[in-house]
Amino acid sequence: MNLKIALLAGDGIGPEVTQEAVNVLNLVAEHGKHTFEFKPLLIGGVAITAHGTPLPEETLKTTLACDAALLGAVGDNKFNHLPPNTRPEAGLLQIRAALGGFANLRPATAYKALADNSPLRPEITEGADIMFVRELLGGLYFGEPRWWDKDKNLAHNTMVYTKDEVVRVARIAFQLAQKRRKKVTSVDKANVLEVSQLWRAAVTEVAQEFPDVTLEHQLVDSMAIHLMNRPRDFDVVLTENLFGDILSDESGVITGSLGMLPSATLGGKVNLYEPVHGSAPDIAGQSKANPVGAILTAAMILRHSAGLEREAKIIEDAVIATLEEGNRTTDIARGNVAGQRTVTTTEMGKLIFDKVKTALAKS
Ligand code: IPM
Ligand code: MN
Repeated sequence: MNLKIALLAGDGIGPEVTQEAVNVLNLVAEHGKHTFEFKPLLIGGVAITAHGTPLPEETLKTTLACDAALLGAVGDNKFNHLPPNTRPEAGLLQIRAALGGFANLRPATAYKALADNSPLRPEITEGADIMFVRELLGGLYFGEPRWWDKDKNLAHNTMVYTKDEVVRVARIAFQLAQKRRKKVTSVDKANVLEVSQLWRAAVTEVAQEFPDVTLEHQLVDSMAIHLMNRPRDFDVVLTENLFGDILSDESGVITGSLGMLPSATLGGKVNLYEPVHGSAPDIAGQSKANPVGAILTAAMILRHSAGLEREAKIIEDAVIATLEEGNRTTDIARGNVAGQRTVTTTEMGKLIFDKVKTALAKS
């Protein structure tokens, strides 16, 4: 298997966590005699600094010629004064649009080893396993018109969806549910927004194609509290762009840390893979970041772009085993807990790497 992977490490902790993901991918490649070729490219704040734009032409062109893209994080406080369309984040939004992936899969799994890391009681989170499917190319993020008239003290954004945009992402959610616990929870604000009424009608129509899957609708505000009160009740959670952004961060509470969450964006020309967390400038360059989100993202590359399901599972099991041994980056460390030790980004990466190596050798 040959895979060309655009490596968009980006800002802050992005380079540190993607390095750990790359190490694990290289290991899988070496073991399976695959060729994974990484193309390091600039995006976000580092690209603004080097080229004056968050998405240089070269980055876009090269990424479009790859089979997959692995992104670390974008965002740098240095650019907070800039308008949205020139900030580091704009580079990410532009590349998402250009690659065309509309279905952003964000799994949130509560690992037993981290049960005490969540502010939720263990009996609430135990066994929680949610697959968020966030629509990634529509809604307020891309709707036109958008502007801020500073003289008039007036700003405008547009939430817009076509039926087709809803149908295509809903189908992905139902297909995933068929392979899981056969339930889709569609999230909207249909008691207030016309866009949500269209969303609900389109999802209900798609549900007819999947009689084996149960569909429920939830309003986004009550969904926010249901997720905390009874996370185990949800299987696939389908949302529009902004609601999915918010709820997927919230699900970091269920898993114990936002640093644990991976994502994969499917459906376009090139699949885009990125951990859910941001660039965390406060801890960047200190080897404090949790590489698990990025390493689980590597597993998603193997699953969705390489057809290497067994290897993906080996990585996920290695993560669980490493956590069960008590290894903790600072975001999941809880002070002096017997049997736990705080490790750096590179140490955590190496511990997982070694377990993957052992498992591959046995397989
Ligand atoms: C995410 C991030 C991005 C988003 C930002 C960095 C543009 O928060 O991937 O969740 O809002 O989609
Ligand atoms: Mn987000």
